[in-house]
Amino acid sequence: MRTLTTERLTLRPWHLDDADFVFDMYARDEVQRYLGRNPTVLQHREQAVATIERWTALAHPIRHIWAIERTADGHLLGTLLLKPIPASQGLELNDTEIGWHLHPDAWGHGYATEAARAALEFGLAAGLTKVVAVTYPENTASQAVATRIGMRCLGLSSAYYDLDCMLFEAP
Ligand SMILES: CC(C)(COP(=O)(O)OP(=O)(O)OC[C@H]1O[C@@H](n2cnc3c(N)ncnc32)[C@H](O)[C@@H]1OP(=O)(O)O)[C@@H](O)C(=O)NCCC(=O)NCCS
Repeated sequence: MRTLTTERLTLRPWHLDDADFVFDMYARDEVQRYLGRNPTVLQHREQAVATIERWTALAHPIRHIWAIERTADGHLLGTLLLKPIPASQGLELNDTEIGWHLHPDAWGHGYATEAARAALEFGLAAGLTKVVAVTYPENTASQAVATRIGMRCLGLSSAYYDLDCMLFEAP
């Protein structure tokens, strides 16, 4: 897996000893409420361990799920994803989703945008052809990140997750 660095951040593989952070972040409704088809907060630390195991098993040369770490002090901030996106029923698509989940303590510093920009640049340079982001229509904070990194808003779409989402596409 490629580690990426930016001015303030390191995007690195997840380790099992990050489970306390993963549990703390994904046990929060304000983080989970707009994630996936059926948002559900984690209830037990073992679920965080299983999540990390699932993420690290996704061995792919380009699509990765990174831990975002602040380089200066090694503090974990959240997750940056480049992963296959589930197409809605009846559609055959092989697109890549870019996504960002930050711990609420790390919101409001531009970290999501900085990490996302680096991951998108990496993915496109490595040969990904179609990178999309989808957000719940009311998730304006996430839509702002997509716009800041230069993604184009294509409006509401039901192409992914069997949901009506705001769809963004990388240029
Ligand atoms: C979506 C999410 C990652 C956005 O986080 P964020 O911190 O608002 O996004 P950014 O990293 O782009 O930070 C932008 C903010 O940092 C501020 N900022 C402060 N210092 C900054 C700096 N040095 N550089 C850039 N921005 C800076 C900006 O002004 C902006 O603040 P504003 O929103 O008050 O205008 C966060 O809300 C989140 O994790 N939500 C839960 C998970 C989720 O919904 N993910 C998306 C699923 S589609």
